[in-house]
Amino acid sequence: MWQQFNRAFTGEWLQYGELFTILQTGVFQALFLLLLTTVPAVLLLHSMMIGPKTFNHHGQQVYFFSLFCRCIHWLAALTFSILVLSGIAIIFAKTLGGGSPLRAVRLLHLLSAVAFTLTAIPMFFMWLREMLPALYDIKWMFIMGGYLSKEKKPVPAGKFNAGQKMWFWLATVGGFIMAFSGYFLWNFQAPVDTLRLMAIIHNFLAAALTALFMVHLYMSLFAINGSLQSMISGYKPKDEVDVMHGRYRY
Ligand code: HEM
Repeated sequence: MWQQFNRAFTGEWLQYGELFTILQTGVFQALFLLLLTTVPAVLLLHSMMIGPKTFNHHGQQVYFFSLFCRCIHWLAALTFSILVLSGIAIIFAKTLGGGSPLRAVRLLHLLSAVAFTLTAIPMFFMWLREMLPALYDIKWMFIMGGYLSKEKKPVPAGKFNAGQKMWFWLATVGGFIMAFSGYFLWNFQAPVDTLRLMAIIHNFLAAALTALFMVHLYMSLFAINGSLQSMISGYKPKDEVDVMHGRYRY
């Protein structure tokens, strides 16, 4: 009887139990702490050494983002930002004191996850074709998209470059995996080893998403002057499109 109860409660210790316990008792917190400090530090270094690229905003403009796509993007941005902030609070719940405020944060995390998942579906389909990999993406990666120099030489990229494609796939497909694993963690109705595996997947993927989210914010707000404006108005300077999206035919 006791053995049966123990097996049901602890699952197969040697499968995920031991790994889960090690990760959960400090490793995930340390990983997040590392990411939340080193990624901004590297981005700050980039901004000090190379700085933003600036293009001519008074010349010809190219219509780049439709109204529908901008609305979907901003809905995803809002819901995902809440997910990231509430997720970080959950990771550091114990340090933050736990209790009812953290339970409210957990509910907010669930609600924003549902809203984000619903927004990520149209986002996936509206950008799918342009986000498919192309051979020139390899070249783009070798030169790091030209972001390591101040030069304004056309780089091999279509409507979206290889970095933007990586972000898109991680945010959408990764987002669905987060929703799937998160559902198990919320519902808690599965064998204990399944729950452990889901928690491990959820936390590691959350770390990757948080890191790329910080990079996306930096690229959109600081790496290219006027990038934020393009996601508001829909227009980009022709000069910028010709350099940063050299293979794009508009
Ligand atoms: C508050 C947070 C965010 C801000 C300020 C922001 C800003 C921007 C801007 C300015 C662009 C246009 C980039 C350009 O081509 O010049 C962009 C594009 C894009 N955003 Fe966001 N974004 C945010 C959050 C998100 C989130 C949460 C997602 C997905 C979950 C997302 C997905 C994308 C994608 C896939 C693109 C097109 C490719 C790219 O530029 O990376 N964004 N965003």
